[in-house]
Amino acid sequence: MFGKRGGGSTPQPPAQPAVPDNDPATAAPEPAAKQAQIIPGLDLGDTGAPVSGEAGADAAAPAPAKAPAPKPARDSKNGRSENYYDIKTTIFNALIDAIDLTQLGQLERDAARDEIRDIVNEIISLKDVAMSIAEQEELLEDICNDVLGYGPLEPLLARDDIADIMVNGADTCFIEVDGQMLDAGIRFRDNAQLLNICQRIVSQVGRRVDEASPICDARLMDGSRVNVIAPPLAIDGAALTIRKFKKDRLRLDDLVKFGSITPDGAEILQIIGRVRCNVLVSGGTGSGKTTLLNCLTGYVDHEERVITCEDAAELQLQQPHVVRLETRPPNLEGEGEISMRDLVKNCLRMRPERIIVGEVRGPEAFDLLQAMNTGHDGSMGTLHANSPREALSRLESMITMGGFSLPSKTIKEMITGSIDVIVQAARLRDGSRRITHVTEVVGMEGDVIITQDLFVYEIVGEDANGKIVGRHRSTGIARPNFWDRARYYGEEARLATALENAEVADEDYND
Ligand SMILES: Nc1ncnc2c1ncn2[C@@H]1O[C@H](COP(=O)(O)OP(=O)(O)OP(=O)(O)O)[C@@H](O)[C@H]1O
Ligand SMILES: [Mg+2]
Repeated sequence: MFGKRGGGSTPQPPAQPAVPDNDPATAAPEPAAKQAQIIPGLDLGDTGAPVSGEAGADAAAPAPAKAPAPKPARDSKNGRSENYYDIKTTIFNALIDAIDLTQLGQLERDAARDEIRDIVNEIISLKDVAMSIAEQEELLEDICNDVLGYGPLEPLLARDDIADIMVNGADTCFIEVDGQMLDAGIRFRDNAQLLNICQRIVSQVGRRVDEASPICDARLMDGSRVNVIAPPLAIDGAALTIRKFKKDRLRLDDLVKFGSITPDGAEILQIIGRVRCNVLVSGGTGSGKTTLLNCLTGYVDHEERVITCEDAAELQLQQPHVVRLETRPPNLEGEGEISMRDLVKNCLRMRPERIIVGEVRGPEAFDLLQAMNTGHDGSMGTLHANSPREALSRLESMITMGGFSLPSKTIKEMITGSIDVIVQAARLRDGSRRITHVTEVVGMEGDVIITQDLFVYEIVGEDANGKIVGRHRSTGIARPNFWDRARYYGEEARLATALENAEVADEDYND
């Protein structure tokens, strides 16, 4: 009865993965065309010579003629003094003069690090720079990161508590930690170094970012999602945004622990995932949509064939039978684009049982709804909207703007026939993330789509620390529209209990 809503699809060969495999070897900078040995006799007198190649461009800043004053103190804002950066520039330039980047690029990372360590120590003693051992270590780490990795970003990338890294030009970098926006305390030598690192990142997925193609999406090897927008579009230097990939993916239990939802609410979501409701996860930027979608997919049965379509693969499904697809942007000649719509359409020929679309933002909305309507129950997607109502109207406008000349009522009927539940996520003004609505799409009355909230979050006030105080509660609906579906899967008793418990819960679930 509830297994399928309609017809099936013809199996087709899977689409090619859109993004080439990441090759760890490409993490090292492009070798420069320098012909010297790795340590061709250190010439520390002349540090200002221009060097070709990527790392060479990093080093393009003119070096001071004399060794800087020996006081690498800290400044209050960025954690490091101007003096530290001066010393670093001097030593870095001397290093670039002294090593052969071609050969360095061929070494294993550890060996390259040892090589750099030896030379830097030698430069420090030759140039008579007064530094403590700890400061030397810090400088060495910094320089290795510049030459071998992503420069000042490295320590941020190594941290697991950061959600986003936002670089706004060479001197400004913010991070989001625990919902709070903080100054990252790092800076790049100059905008050229920043752009260079951006280039290094995107070249790993075969892309390029420069004046000619200043916008680029990419993915780090650890799965983090990256966006770069370079000058002249970004006025104050390249803007780099990284959504860090969480190694330990958040589960519904974690969301309960964080107070994003109550245990009963989480139980209702589990049932929604398990009984194959078609779900739209709605929310603002960074509100936790993808996380929530990931959690919901945790309740998909292991026997089901699931196909995921994403712009940058972020979902981490645990089931054995999953095909992951990724879109591809056009190449420099403007050719070869594979859009989300192409993927979703292709999916239908791959005999999916559920289709999961990372983010619905265009005409693929039509194909997803069709899929939901034609036997792919339990399909899901996320969408940017601030309320369940807004999510529905956004869906309608995506279809209208996609050029499908359908009357508004037909589109609404299609939406009503396809979407069962909208789960709304929000990032509140205190930085906390909450699931604010679990709303059912019930049907139509005239030209209007009727929805009913099953579970909502109410803001009660604010505590002394400015933290929002609120509570989750069920709205008292004892028989949701998907009741029969829950019964079909043997989950109606659990659903009834969760709804009932949620109704009486008036406890605060804030941290
Ligand atoms: N309920 C939560 N509590 C705490 N942190 C959360 C919660 N949900 C998500 N996060 C964290 O917030 C960050 C953003 O989450 P996520 O990527 O799911 O947001 P999104 O809405 O999909 O963002 P975007 O609009 O950029 O796609 C991630 O680092 C994630 O780990
Ligand atoms: Mg997302």
